[in-house]
Amino acid sequence: MRGLVEASNACACDCLYCGIRKSNRDVNRYTLSLEDILACARQCADYGYGSMVIQSGERADKKFVDLVAEAVARIKTETRTDKQPDGLGITLCIGQQSYETYKRLYDAGAHRYLLRIETTNPALFAKIHPADQTFESRVACLKMLRDIGYQVGTGVMIGLPGQTLEDLADDILFFSKMDIDMIGMGPFIPHPDTPLWGEPVADVPARVQLALLMIAATRLKLRDVNIASTTALQALDPVGREKGLKFGANVIMPQMSPTDVRADYQLYPGKPCLDENAKECQSCLNMRIEFAGRKIGLYAWGDSQHAVKRL
Ligand code: 5AD
Repeated sequence: MRGLVEASNACACDCLYCGIRKSNRDVNRYTLSLEDILACARQCADYGYGSMVIQSGERADKKFVDLVAEAVARIKTETRTDKQPDGLGITLCIGQQSYETYKRLYDAGAHRYLLRIETTNPALFAKIHPADQTFESRVACLKMLRDIGYQVGTGVMIGLPGQTLEDLADDILFFSKMDIDMIGMGPFIPHPDTPLWGEPVADVPARVQLALLMIAATRLKLRDVNIASTTALQALDPVGREKGLKFGANVIMPQMSPTDVRADYQLYPGKPCLDENAKECQSCLNMRIEFAGRKIGLYAWGDSQHAVKRL
């Protein structure tokens, strides 16, 4: 379990698929305070979630980077408990940043980083991003993160307009070639306030099935990585996350963001758990995971076996 905190929905990027893209004026932009983030962290520690993910829109402004660095440093010291003397594991998911920023946040105590490549087909990548974002610069970021010492996660969206099965097979080969430690992927879900809305995509059951098969195929190729069963699966199928576990995923990211900001962090429509709080999400997920026949690991960072061997 990784408790997920959505620290800010402000974003400098204009990705053509994403609901919080900077030109969407219908989003009420927020940034959590340091205290809010620390409260979420303490709650994670309380529930025994051994690690947490700090996710946000892509912001490189000093104020935000300072906030994240301070939050990471304080979480490290303030979540130490008898059951978890090293404190929570901390994963960051705050987009493309400079080497200096990645290094600073690593030195502050973050040890895992998620940066999805979104698709490894360069033409499709160019179709869903503005020209100022390139496939090459994302790959360069993944390499920097690894050089610095992070455990590195990436992933793709499944069922993008024009995406082929061959593209998805290439995505899996990319994960393998990059020696990735963690994977997060889910179905593409068109958002009405984005340019990709209205582009042809497979129907919902077909996209869910494709996402599940992609998890299974990735698991068969990369045996020892962590694979998340993502919220996007549940957005399209009420039991999508349980199905993800059955198809080979082994990580769940319970929502820890304060309830009053959840609706403002909608990368895609239909995000579940908008009206719930962390406590409700905890008991709901516990039930769902047990129902899927799996056991929950608590009070540990839960590094992938791949990362343990590699580092
Ligand atoms: N549908 C599905 N996933 C999306 N993401 C962003 N927008 C969408 C969407 N419309 C995913 C991207 C990003 C991650 C945080 O959320 O893959 O990397």
